[in-house]
Amino acid sequence: MNAPALEVHLDADDLARTLRADVLTGLTATPKWLPPKWFYDARGSELFEQITELPEYYPTRTERKILQARAADIARHTGARTLLELGSGYSTKTRLLLDALTTAGTLTAFVPMDVSPSALEAAAARIATDYPGLRVHNIVGDMTRHLKHLPSGTDRMIAFLGGTIGNLVPAERAAFLADVRAVLDVGEHLLLGTDLVKSPRVVVPAYDDAQGVTANFNRNVLRVLNQSLNADFDLDGFAHVALWNPDQNWIEMRLRARWPMRVTIPDLNLTVDFAAGEELRTEVSAKFHRAGVEYELTEAGFTLDHWWTDPDNLFAVSLARAT
Ligand code: AVJ
Repeated sequence: MNAPALEVHLDADDLARTLRADVLTGLTATPKWLPPKWFYDARGSELFEQITELPEYYPTRTERKILQARAADIARHTGARTLLELGSGYSTKTRLLLDALTTAGTLTAFVPMDVSPSALEAAAARIATDYPGLRVHNIVGDMTRHLKHLPSGTDRMIAFLGGTIGNLVPAERAAFLADVRAVLDVGEHLLLGTDLVKSPRVVVPAYDDAQGVTANFNRNVLRVLNQSLNADFDLDGFAHVALWNPDQNWIEMRLRARWPMRVTIPDLNLTVDFAAGEELRTEVSAKFHRAGVEYELTEAGFTLDHWWTDPDNLFAVSLARAT
C-alpha cells in the first residue's frame, strides 16, 4: 500500500495572511461580513459533521441517497480513471463513488483537495487502507485559488458535492466554474451537488436547528478569530440568524449583536464596533433550479448530461461534460 502523498499549496503562513486580509476587508465593510471558509477549523469541521446528522439538515443524507442510486451510472458514464474531489472534508460520500469506480475497474487515483489538512489526512489514511492499489494524492489548497495544481491526466472527473457551490455568489460561481472547466480536457466530467429551491419552511430549519448545533457552528467563526488573531469576541453576545432571501434564492447566516460591543483585534491593529442588533453576514448558501444550474454550466463550457434528484426534489446531482 502506498502512503498518501500530501501536496501543500496553503501553508500556515498563507492561511494566516489570507485570514487577516479577509477579516480586515469584511469587518471594515458596511454591512459587515466574513467568508464562510473560516468556519472550518478542527472544531468547526466537527460541528459541520454534527450538522449533517441533524434531522432538519436534509442535504447530506439526500445527496447520499442520490449517489447510492446513481454511483454505478456515474461510473459507467464517465469511465473515470482519476477522481478529483474539491472541498472533500472527511470524504464520507466519496466512498460511494470510489466503490462504483473500483467495481467498474477504471479507477487508479483519488485526489482530494481541501483547506483543512486535518480532515484530509484523517480521511486519506482510511481510504488508502480500504482501497489498496489506489493512488491517493492529497492537496491542501483553496478551491478558488489552487485548481491549477490539480494533476493532469485522462478521463478525470471532478466532484464538487454537498451543495458547497452555493457558498459562492453568482459572479464567484461563474469564475469558479470557468476555472474548473479550464482544468479539464474536452470529454472529462464534473459531478456537481446542488441544493434546490424549496419552501423556506424546510430550508430555514435546516440552518436553524432545534438543538442549536448550527448556531454554535456559526459562532465558531468568532472563536477562530479569537484564537488566530487574538480577538476578544464575546460569543454569548451574538445571536444566530438564518434568513431566507427570496430575491436571491439563498439562505443567509448572520450573527446579530445582542448589545453594543467594541471588539479589539490586536493582530490587525483593529477595533470594531457593533451596534445593538447589528448583523454580521457569515455565509450565503444558494439554492438552485435545474434551469439555473444548466445555464451556469453551459456558460462555463459544460454540457449537462444527467440531472438526478430525490423523489421530493430536495437536492440534485448533476453530471456535466466538458465541451
Ligand atoms: C458545507 C457549505 C454545504 O451551505 O449547507 C451547513 C454549510 N452552513 N449549515 C451548507 C452549512 C450551515 C453547508 N455546506
